[in-house]
Amino acid sequence: MSNVIARLDDVSMNYGERVVLQNCSLDVVEGAITCIIGLSGAGKSTILRLLNGLRKPESGHVYVKGTDICHMPEHELINFRSAIGFAFQFAALFDSMTIGENVALPLRENTSMSESEIEKTARGTLESVGLENNYDNFPSELSGGMLKRAGFARAVVTNPAIVLYDEPTTGLDPIITHLLTDTIKRLRAQLNGTAVVISHDLQSIFMMADYVAMLFEGAIIAYDSVTKIRASMNPIVQQFLQGSEVGPIPL
Ligand SMILES: Nc1ncnc2c1ncn2[C@@H]1O[C@H](COP(=O)(O)OP(=O)(O)OP(=O)(O)O)[C@@H](O)[C@H]1O
Ligand SMILES: [Mg+2]
Repeated sequence: MSNVIARLDDVSMNYGERVVLQNCSLDVVEGAITCIIGLSGAGKSTILRLLNGLRKPESGHVYVKGTDICHMPEHELINFRSAIGFAFQFAALFDSMTIGENVALPLRENTSMSESEIEKTARGTLESVGLENNYDNFPSELSGGMLKRAGFARAVVTNPAIVLYDEPTTGLDPIITHLLTDTIKRLRAQLNGTAVVISHDLQSIFMMADYVAMLFEGAIIAYDSVTKIRASMNPIVQQFLQGSEVGPIPL
């Protein structure tokens, strides 16, 4: 049995009247890439917010490394979050800081590294995503794909045990998509860590995922290896993978 590093256990979650997750459970296997698929608005980003304690569920538990983070006080959560990298759906870099300063920020905030160590680590991490020449650029000077990569660099710079990627390739050309998918795989191998990736891009999911979880109507309705998900007899999974209008998914 593989080790589970994070777990949603019977989680329900609303935004006001809107029920987003209902009795939702998910295991995140240590050292693997887990991809979450599902319709737009299904609650995928919400799952990532729960996994790093940005949101708390109405009921159920969220365990990370064996600790139930739902009851963690905010000051402990801040500390805990430094062990989780978050590459946001929109890169979310600070416009007033250079790329280098953006990537260095988590090191400044969460470690006692010296200034020269911080710069060296930030430069090394930028190099690992192919942005070694962009340390002194501002975000406004980079393309969308470069910003995504800078966001990856900032998410992994502290060497976190888990990295959460929210739609890392959405809206990018096929070559950059391939490159970023490869980057996620390579960073995971380099960090010897765990990744949870939300993506709508089936090709890149098939390329990187160890496990695929499908979120539908508030819960994970299918969870398996890529090969088994592709061969799944579940009509909802099949309709989603084929992008068909015909099937049980309401349009
Ligand atoms: N802060 C919020 N306040 C109110 N409703 C929200 C909030 N965040 C998300 N929602 C609602 O919750 C639902 C799930 O949102 P979420 O962002 O988790 O979906 P998603 O699966 O990531 O969608 P997408 O694929 O479009 O990114 C949506 O209906 C959304 O409108
Ligand atoms: Mg989302």
